[in-house]
Amino acid sequence: MIRLENINKTFHGSGGTVEAVRDVSLHIEAGEIFGIIGLSGAGKSTLARCINLLERPDSGRVVVDGTELTALPEKALRRQRLSLGMIFQHFNLMPSRTVYENIAYPLKKQKQTAGQIERRVTELLELVDLRDKRDAYPNQLSGGQKQRVAIARAIAGQPKVLLCDEATSALDPATTLSILDLLKRINRSLGITIVVITHEMAVVKEICDRVAVMEKGRVVESGRVVDLFSIPASPVTRSFVESTANTCRVFDLVRESAPIVAIEPGQVLVRLKYLGHSADEALISRVSRQYNIDCNILFGNIDIVSDTAIGTLVLVLSGEKNNIEAAIGYLSRNNVVIEVIDR
Ligand SMILES: Nc1ncnc2c1ncn2[C@@H]1O[C@H](COP(=O)(O)OP(=O)(O)O)[C@@H](O)[C@H]1O
Ligand SMILES: [Mg+2]
Repeated sequence: MIRLENINKTFHGSGGTVEAVRDVSLHIEAGEIFGIIGLSGAGKSTLARCINLLERPDSGRVVVDGTELTALPEKALRRQRLSLGMIFQHFNLMPSRTVYENIAYPLKKQKQTAGQIERRVTELLELVDLRDKRDAYPNQLSGGQKQRVAIARAIAGQPKVLLCDEATSALDPATTLSILDLLKRINRSLGITIVVITHEMAVVKEICDRVAVMEKGRVVESGRVVDLFSIPASPVTRSFVESTANTCRVFDLVRESAPIVAIEPGQVLVRLKYLGHSADEALISRVSRQYNIDCNILFGNIDIVSDTAIGTLVLVLSGEKNNIEAAIGYLSRNNVVIEVIDR
């Protein structure tokens, strides 16, 4: 659905030159929910604006659904942009217009008849669950409701792609989940390809099929979310993954010599990471039985990503030295990534 080929964008300002996007190539399949994650300033918004050419790349090609947008003259581009809806962190609704008028706005610009508009807006209000807010003004709505209006407006013209730039970043966690649910529903029931731009791994984990990680204008890593989660290759990805779990805290605690991670002579402090299939095998109890050791769980986190369990456990192992070593060997032979933190 979207092919970005060698996209570059540099800004020249009073503060100097910023290479906001550097040689980014991405392929986003029709019907998928694709995440772009990165810290603030990584170039995500600039890249998103390059997809619909609100920002023209300095070089590179943008192809959406077979049409090369970067080759189109302005007028044809305006027509093609209708196939790309967009929503933002701060909703960008028109404050002096009602919910109905906000959603109807793009349809009016497409010169649809009053009857067509009425039918479509009613359908959209139903879809985003805002029937009763039809005549309300934006300042009478909660953040979540405003984003629902923005979503209805963005998909009113039946785009093929919906670009979401930090769409949940101004919302509380519960509202975030309800908006992500709505996006999932729109993706599944209408087949709209969704690009989710975010700085939050929890958002990626919740709805994305695949994800690209951006750092300083570049895509440093991309792939299926479950793969990135289980084996993050780059430091920035690793820190995003760990941001959703507390199990990385153990390293700080060891450094601070906190009592909770204090071990006795002979004991070994380890961190285990495993994917679903190994979790099914009652790993810890088996190792404990087989090697006659005790496994005391200090921290644990099990994520479910694309229906696969990804577990991280921090354990204190106690027992005979040889048995502990044998148990560690057994675990690593059974697809568990095991790190000795302290001994
Ligand atoms: N219109 C602009 N003029 C100058 N610099 C810009 C402009 N837009 C973005 N930048 C700079 O480009 C870099 C990437 O910004 P942005 O794409 O907004 O990142 P993100 O969305 O990941 O936070 C930042 O250093 C930002 O200051
Ligand atoms: Mg941004």
